[in-house]
Amino acid sequence: MPATFSSYPDAPSVKTELPGPRSKEILDVQNELETLSRTYTSFFPVAIAEGRNSSIRDMDGNVFVDWFAGVCVINLGHANPLVVNAMRGQLEAISHINEMPVPARTSFLKTLNSTLPGDLRNNSRTMFTVTGADACEAAVSLARHVTGRRTIVAFGGAYHGVHGGIIGATANRHYREYASLPSYGVHHLPYPYTYRFPYSVREGDESKSVVDTLEYLIRDTSSGPDSIAGVLVEPVQGEGGYIVPPPDFLPMLREVTEKHSIPLIVDEVQSGVGRTGRIWASEHSSITPDIMCISKAIGGGIPNSMITYRREYDEDLPPGFHLGTYRGNPIALAAGDAILKHLKESNTLSRVSKVGARVKAHFEEIASGSRSIGEVRGLGFMIGVELVEDRKSRAPSQSAARSLRDRLFRKGVLMHTCGHYGNVMRFMAPLTIEDELVGRGLEIFDSSLREVESEM
Ligand SMILES: Cc1ncc(COP(=O)(O)O)c(C=O)c1O
Repeated sequence: MPATFSSYPDAPSVKTELPGPRSKEILDVQNELETLSRTYTSFFPVAIAEGRNSSIRDMDGNVFVDWFAGVCVINLGHANPLVVNAMRGQLEAISHINEMPVPARTSFLKTLNSTLPGDLRNNSRTMFTVTGADACEAAVSLARHVTGRRTIVAFGGAYHGVHGGIIGATANRHYREYASLPSYGVHHLPYPYTYRFPYSVREGDESKSVVDTLEYLIRDTSSGPDSIAGVLVEPVQGEGGYIVPPPDFLPMLREVTEKHSIPLIVDEVQSGVGRTGRIWASEHSSITPDIMCISKAIGGGIPNSMITYRREYDEDLPPGFHLGTYRGNPIALAAGDAILKHLKESNTLSRVSKVGARVKAHFEEIASGSRSIGEVRGLGFMIGVELVEDRKSRAPSQSAARSLRDRLFRKGVLMHTCGHYGNVMRFMAPLTIEDELVGRGLEIFDSSLREVESEM
């Protein structure tokens, strides 16, 4: 990576009211012409001029530290020359063509194959899709097709997107209410969210209780759901609250699904492409998924997604099994190829593990002097800080999270929330963030949290 690739040295630097005058003009146009159902512009109301690595400059010259990375999309930082050059080369050659292979496509497929976990390597096929939801949708259709069964088991707190079929697997019911779609053919089990586990079990038995319930659903034809076509799981739950399951969860899930020949679908849309310190989060548990959903950071900012699955699932798939004009965009594939090669060859992943552990430890230190942090958890650069009314009751505090997000924004740090109750602050900076920007952000987090607590 060229030495010149770095964040703006003055980040963060907020010189105007937010939004500043130029941002305000642009936001006014947006508000006039674009839907008011947007969300991000209500959290971070500024118009953006450009980004460099882990920093963003707005139209008034204010500079923000980016701990957000476009929700885990910009994993190698904004305007990384490695990604920009790969995109530019492909853009000048050809920018769109339907399935006919360009060298970037086959190069990407080979590189992707070389990163795959366990038996998927050299023993899988890939089907391109466009968005994360599209990939999950294709994965679920594939699992139903190969098993001839209907029900998908997903988990409480899951987020797999809001397309028509997959919206049933997304757990939060308000998304289905907005789309006026019922949850068809999906059965949710609790995710082993140990801080708020719904069953009374001994500490350490959370995974077992979930997997035992799954086995009951599979084995007992009177348990309720139709026979199970697939189990769809996030290896670290993303939108649900940056929840790292206990280490025995994925191996136990793998064992039971394998025993009953049920495809295990691992949704790496948010956790993949280096985010947790391994290229794929499932590698931490040494399991091999039957189907993997990949998106977000794989396109370097250009929409792209895919499922990669056991080769034998491809045997009798009809042509046009899953369609989409924009599948496998060449510019996105050139970027994805460069990104995966970089993750394989550089020290980025080991740095993510080291710096991620340091950031988590720093949040834990802040938590020890705080009354509103209930739990800090995370893996690599997927770190969640859960805010509560008080540590004893553990009552979730969405208002504290909102207030903290706003204060951080006003001081120049972009940090977003997630969680079953919208009360989890999540650290998801680009993997290339400089140590100084981590440090400056943590100081601002600490002082802003104190301000929020003084008003609670
Ligand atoms: C784990 C996971 N799966 C699927 C999706 C849906 O992806 P998209 O927003 O590209 O449809 C998301 C989006 O955040 C996600 O986090």
